Amino acid sequence: MRGKFITLEGIDGAGKSTHLEWLADFWCAHGHDLVVTREPGGTVLGEQLRKLLLDGKQAMHAETETLLMFAARREHIHQVITPNLEAGRWVLCDRFTDATFAYQGGGRGVAWHRLEALEHWVQGELEPDLTFYFDVTPAVARQRMTAIKQPDRFEREQNDFFQRVRDAYLLRARNAPQRIHIIDAERNIEEIRRELTVIVELLCQ
Ligand code: ADP
Ligand code: TYD
Repeated sequence: MRGKFITLEGIDGAGKSTHLEWLADFWCAHGHDLVVTREPGGTVLGEQLRKLLLDGKQAMHAETETLLMFAARREHIHQVITPNLEAGRWVLCDRFTDATFAYQGGGRGVAWHRLEALEHWVQGELEPDLTFYFDVTPAVARQRMTAIKQPDRFEREQNDFFQRVRDAYLLRARNAPQRIHIIDAERNIEEIRRELTVIVELLCQ
């Protein structure tokens, strides 16, 4: 049986990494063979592209950034996501195409129809079975990120950028309510976990 494809989304500082670890433990404890991966990245080539994309010194055109995100994704799908799903493993991915709509579409202003064309080309029929979008205001995310010593090219952006990213995530979630669960991530971690538990237990049945 094909595995499940689950993705996590949110603006930087929303708490994604915190919940990713917990979700991975939860599914492993329920006996699922799980692969944890991330975007941009997840392959040797993808991790090299990630370095270029996040490097604070390297400015680039918004469409170049978009194309590099999708180039890394093409390789990731081919090498990691599809083979593991076909082998019956579950794939838990830290960010996927919703992030491109949010950051490059909302944040940078790349036309939505261009992103849709690339999504269709690169993914074909592939889509996550379930996506958690951890929703926080940019102000709360920034408070949580204060400990980061060397912010990358995205983390350095101002609150208005993250507000556009957040609005685009919410629009994308409204357009795919069956797949994308909006999690109010301004609550404490325990409360969020209780909500996640209800949703993921359903998925395990
Ligand atoms: P992300 O991966 O989305 O950038 P992290 O999971 O690294 O975010 O969380 C950023 C910081 O915020 C960490 O110090 C983490 O412990 C803290 N954090 C995460 N979720 C919450 C929460 N619900 N309430 C308070 N602090 C949180
Ligand atoms: P992330 O792994 O969440 O960063 P960190 O490990 O520092 O928390 O994501 C890397 C950055 O890449 C993040 O700021 C969002 C950005 N990104 C895009 O702009 N577009 C995309 O399509 C993806 C997948 C990520």
